[in-house]
Amino acid sequence: WTISSHGHDDFLQCLSLQSKDHTSFSNIFYTPENSSYSSILNFSIQNLRFATETTPKPLVIITPVNESQIQPVIYCAKENGMQIRIRSGGHDLEGLSYTSEEPFFILDLVNLRDINVDVDKKTAWIQAGARLGELYYRIAEKSRTLGFPAGVCPTVGAGGHISGGGYGALIRKYGLAADNVIDARIIDVNGRILDRKSMGEDLFWAIRGGGGTSFGIVLAWKLQLVDVPEKVTVFTIARTVEQNATNIVHRWQYIAHKFDEDLAVRVYIRRVNSSQDGKRSIQASFQSLFLGSVDRLLPLMQQSFPELGLQREDCTEMSWIESTLYIYELPVGPLDVLLNRTQANIPYLKVKADYVQKPISKNVLEGIWKRFFEEEAEKAELVFIPYGGRMDEISESAIPFPHRAGNLYKINYSVYWDEEEASERYLSWIRRLYSYMAPYVSKFPRSAYVNYRDLDIGVNNKGNTSYAQASIWGLKYFKINFNKLVHVKTKVDPSNFFRNEQSIPPLYSRW
Ligand code: FDA
Repeated sequence: WTISSHGHDDFLQCLSLQSKDHTSFSNIFYTPENSSYSSILNFSIQNLRFATETTPKPLVIITPVNESQIQPVIYCAKENGMQIRIRSGGHDLEGLSYTSEEPFFILDLVNLRDINVDVDKKTAWIQAGARLGELYYRIAEKSRTLGFPAGVCPTVGAGGHISGGGYGALIRKYGLAADNVIDARIIDVNGRILDRKSMGEDLFWAIRGGGGTSFGIVLAWKLQLVDVPEKVTVFTIARTVEQNATNIVHRWQYIAHKFDEDLAVRVYIRRVNSSQDGKRSIQASFQSLFLGSVDRLLPLMQQSFPELGLQREDCTEMSWIESTLYIYELPVGPLDVLLNRTQANIPYLKVKADYVQKPISKNVLEGIWKRFFEEEAEKAELVFIPYGGRMDEISESAIPFPHRAGNLYKINYSVYWDEEEASERYLSWIRRLYSYMAPYVSKFPRSAYVNYRDLDIGVNNKGNTSYAQASIWGLKYFKINFNKLVHVKTKVDPSNFFRNEQSIPPLYSRW
């Protein structure tokens, strides 16, 4: 199907007619003629790969300041066959919240960002456009012994992140962000505002981890906050391969998922230049958050991971909110940096993910290190995120996110670069690494994480997305839960109004 500029004009006209009855749209509407169009578009772009001259741009950006402005937008988009892209924090790793090959407009929820924390009930309502850093900050403003288990990057948006699961340093103790959602408000394809009760348990299940876009527009989440101690302990110990990194990483695979659930030790793999002789090496940094005091941590580490040689002087006690800065490798200082809604240096970026179910041999680890000596790996990074703990206790079908017991850890592969012309080289580097890893990670299917969106693993057909086509990527993200997601989608959005390259299709979809 195609849409003419005629459809676009009709869409705009429909909105202006609607605004007579509702509220004025003039201040929340940006077409390319508007001088703020580019700055509004770029404000939430986190990946320069989708901000090039050839990247398709929206016909209009709409930035509602209240929920009632969204209903007429849906009505007019449906009437005129306009494709909607919903954006909260804009971190979609394939840019799907702000680009599309079909003519489209962006519904940008950047202004819907209220956060209300209820300390007595240990809950918070957060609107979709608020960022995780803002959430952590607002919680800490009211309590230093409450937290929330979501992502480590403070500019990530609540709307997309929680829709796809969402994890951070508290994953082993409390699971995913989506595991801790107790209510939500969404707008469905008919423009109805629904909460948990009125949407029903199936749709409420689907929106907590089934990925953004497919089921409607999430307006806000109600979160169950979690207890954190007044003082947590952090440390980072870095070892190069010359300092036994290979053996220590190898050992880590056998134990990190079994640690006390108060302890999460991630591993960052990067290439470094030695400060002594300037020679290149591979470094593994073991970065940890422990929900307790250094006195309790030291014997635990001594007993379970003596190979790391943790000393008291490696450890720092701080509040949980300070640890959110530390874990994101920001200086631990004034907390208001958590309120920054944009990142300083936006890169060209490609990310992929894997789940590891059996420890990888030292030889294979050395094969990874070898690839990190290639030119393209200068700013590449692997992160190993330990599972176990709470993740083992939650059933595979509790929410759509299925990667629970049986997974030792998750691997995030990231490659960053600075020049558009070089993109193909870097993409090819990360794809080669990903194929090298195929025999050593989860199989049948090779699992992936919907929030680390990767269009390489499959996309919907243009024009006519079949269940079979969508299941190529869908089973990787959701395993058997994919079928239930399709069932819910068929019920709530049979005409597939809410769609993108990896949205859940309804059965018998025309699109
Ligand atoms: P964005 O607005 O791009 O939305 C993502 C998807 O959800 C899009 O398809 C969009 O259309 C849809 N969507 C957005 N708002 C919606 C709404 N209100 N209703 C319905 N659909 C909506 N993940 C993680 O688990 N832990 C982490 O620590 C990190 N860290 C991280 C760092 C950086 C720098 C990046 C770029 C990404 C991450 N992520 C992550 C991945 C992140 O969780 C993922 O990209 C989220 O989907 C981003 O949500 P945003 O709202 O920011 O994105």
